[in-house]
Amino acid sequence: MSKSIAIDGPAGAGKSTIAKKVAKSLGFIYVDTGAMYRAMALYMIKNKVDASDSEKISATCKSADITIKHENGEQVVYLNKENVNGLIRTEEVGNMASASSVNADVRAKLVELQQKMAETTDVVMDGRDIGTVVLPGADLKVYLTASSKVRAERRYKELTEKGTQCNLDEIEKDIIDRDYRDMHRENSPLKQAEDAVLVDSSYMTIDEVADEILRLYKERA
Ligand code: DC
Repeated sequence: MSKSIAIDGPAGAGKSTIAKKVAKSLGFIYVDTGAMYRAMALYMIKNKVDASDSEKISATCKSADITIKHENGEQVVYLNKENVNGLIRTEEVGNMASASSVNADVRAKLVELQQKMAETTDVVMDGRDIGTVVLPGADLKVYLTASSKVRAERRYKELTEKGTQCNLDEIEKDIIDRDYRDMHRENSPLKQAEDAVLVDSSYMTIDEVADEILRLYKERA
């Protein structure tokens, strides 16, 4: 049977960086489920679907063909055969993803895809509902979080390093709003699974968090 580690938590807690590291040291495949929701959101934007029009989102998601491939150790997301990795990391797509991911039809489609991937491959999968919905039987579940202030500072640093003008308070407000939406939606809200281990990365380095997760996994294996 394939093995799995589920890492859930709010945006900016460091899930993807840490999940990638853990996957590499165990020889597992890293699956970034947020990228799938982002690809779906991009499809909604391309089709001029309004974020509040749930009927249109349900109808439109049926014609989105989202596939994941791993090329040179990197996850590549294809939307209707187009590599969209370079198009899904914008604030616009992130905000649409937060809105369109509340839709039950969007979730059903992507959860099925995620479960199929984990059936045949050893995975470290990160997202919001991996431990609670997608992989309830995961070998290790981690709920990775950090304070909104620390997460905003990380995002601010990332954006200013890229030369993007931004405002720290606005970023923190965006993070708090997104957390609220992710945690209070009806379908698969972000919450810690009962059997998940809570890791607060606010004052930990990336290596410290990755080592802690590897230690927890080995302890259970
Ligand atoms: O992790 P991220 O910021 O790339 O995710 C984008 C959005 O997708 C986020 O607002 C929540 C949603 N998402 C989700 O609902 N379930 C997942 N398993 C992963 C992401």
